[in-house]
Amino acid sequence: MLEKINNAANYLQNRLDFKPEVALILGSGLGVLAEEIENSIKINYEDVPGFPLSTVEGHVNRFVAGLLSGKKVLAMQGRFHYYEGYSMQEVTLPIRVMGEMGIDKLIITNAAGGVNRLFDPGDLMLIADHINLMGVNPLRGANLDKYGPRFPDMSSAYNKDLIELAETVAKEKGLLLRKGVYAAVSGPTYETPAEVRSARNSGADAVGMSTVPEVIVANHMGIDVLGISCITNMAAGILSQPLDHSEVVENAEQVKPEFKKLVKGVLHNI
Ligand code: HPA
Repeated sequence: MLEKINNAANYLQNRLDFKPEVALILGSGLGVLAEEIENSIKINYEDVPGFPLSTVEGHVNRFVAGLLSGKKVLAMQGRFHYYEGYSMQEVTLPIRVMGEMGIDKLIITNAAGGVNRLFDPGDLMLIADHINLMGVNPLRGANLDKYGPRFPDMSSAYNKDLIELAETVAKEKGLLLRKGVYAAVSGPTYETPAEVRSARNSGADAVGMSTVPEVIVANHMGIDVLGISCITNMAAGILSQPLDHSEVVENAEQVKPEFKKLVKGVLHNI
């Protein structure tokens, strides 16, 4: 594992002529932000030694590195989802690699279903905390002592200073920004209405199929995380219509301007 991480990290660093400071993971429909990266260097996942390929519709599968809001970023356009069949080690390999490269801040984004009835599709939600309902943990197995402890603390999984910064940026720019708890399920099915009620009763505000594995590994390595969910739909059973992936992609499309403003504002002040 360590060799795999090192090989990929060395390959990526050799392709770049700078050291990235901030990692960005762009969720379903939110990859457009990568198009605003200046002097960009694009590296397909398939070219990185040891990397699997992402298969989900609505994702391109590459790193885009360069300058965004004056910061040196390494963005991921497309990620590896557990429901695609990848192991948790594969899902979180990019985090290990970016951490190995010396990146200590991660802005991670996703599309999520609204569980909180006060939310609306198109809302942006800062992730204050998460609930892992995936039934698996990426740190299961031998601990990589080089990176972090056997039993990592998760009491501030989402960095308080970054949350505060994002809230300040949203206020300054007049953006509506929700804050809540993200529950992660394995997918690929959307939830049943009973599962959504159960998630709500457990304190979840949004539900999705990603992010939590990456955030766990980032915490293990001491990487500071800012998490942003785009509420693309109300979770199952809240409205009377069935859920459909095209709705998710369309609504992610609509929120793009606010999403870009928020992330660029955060990067500017980070
Ligand atoms: N459930 C799970 N994942 C999702 C949803 C949802 O309703 N919307 C977007 N990703």
